[in-house]
Amino acid sequence: MKITIIGAGNVGATSAEILFKKNVVKEIILLDVKKNLAEGKAIDISQTAPINGSYSKIIGVTNDYSKTENSKVIVITSGITRKYNMSRDDLININANIVKSVIKKSIEYSPDTIFIVVSNPLDVMTYVAFISSKINASRVFGMAGILDKARYCTFLATELNCYPQDIQTLLLGSHGDTMVPLPRYTTVSGIPIIELIDKSKIDSIIERTKKGGLEIVNMLGTSAWYAPGAAVAQMVESIIKDSKRIFPCSAWLQGEYGLKNIYLGVPVILGKNGIEKILELKLNNEEMNFLKKSAEHITNMIKVIDKSE
Ligand code: LAC
Repeated sequence: MKITIIGAGNVGATSAEILFKKNVVKEIILLDVKKNLAEGKAIDISQTAPINGSYSKIIGVTNDYSKTENSKVIVITSGITRKYNMSRDDLININANIVKSVIKKSIEYSPDTIFIVVSNPLDVMTYVAFISSKINASRVFGMAGILDKARYCTFLATELNCYPQDIQTLLLGSHGDTMVPLPRYTTVSGIPIIELIDKSKIDSIIERTKKGGLEIVNMLGTSAWYAPGAAVAQMVESIIKDSKRIFPCSAWLQGEYGLKNIYLGVPVILGKNGIEKILELKLNNEEMNFLKKSAEHITNMIKVIDKSE
């Protein structure tokens, strides 16, 4: 099976490297507009094979979409990233045009593909990908929840001094300040964290999670890539292996959670057909209000996109 990653920047190349190392697919195409960037990174990644025991093939190409033909999954990481103190929303116009053009070129060669969008502002760029691709929404969704969840779990594990993978949680809403972490649905090996950590400490961890991307942007002058790359790889793996894992992803809502015509982070089952099911949780009033606020924010940005269509 073959997959394509569009954009050989930090996130794209890291996703490719992780998938290559894990032997998830037979062939990875890494594509970038910048001459020789994808080629150079692909050659470098391919040379890890004798060390890491990989047997996948990785090929870098400069803007040649014919090489992406018949990809089962296409990951879109294209676009500009944030600089110091920028919000993800500041990227909307430039990245919308880039995502539109990338989707149109990709779909021409892989009409049955599944798109995973990573470009920011995430929920809005996933909407742009959906309307540009004109395919079923079960095959167009965004990566954000796994990353936000990973940040949340990392901070909780540090606080509890426990094994990070023992923390199970869910997160809803947008990939931004209005994301909705759910302490009520967070446990450490089955023990609710609300029994282990003070509310004020949980609140401060939630605030740090919401600003988790910006914390790194303000240190590095560009967006994070290791955890985003790992999150992309986890989604691709669940699709390729048809594992039917449950992840929070930005999905097209048509009445779920009382929301319509919007991309927003919700728990979904990911398998060989993309999103196989959206799971609805019973939220309490406070959680529902947070989710509505998040939805309002994304709806306003979707309106900006619709106006420019
Ligand atoms: C972040 C970017 C990938 O949250 O949105 O780091």
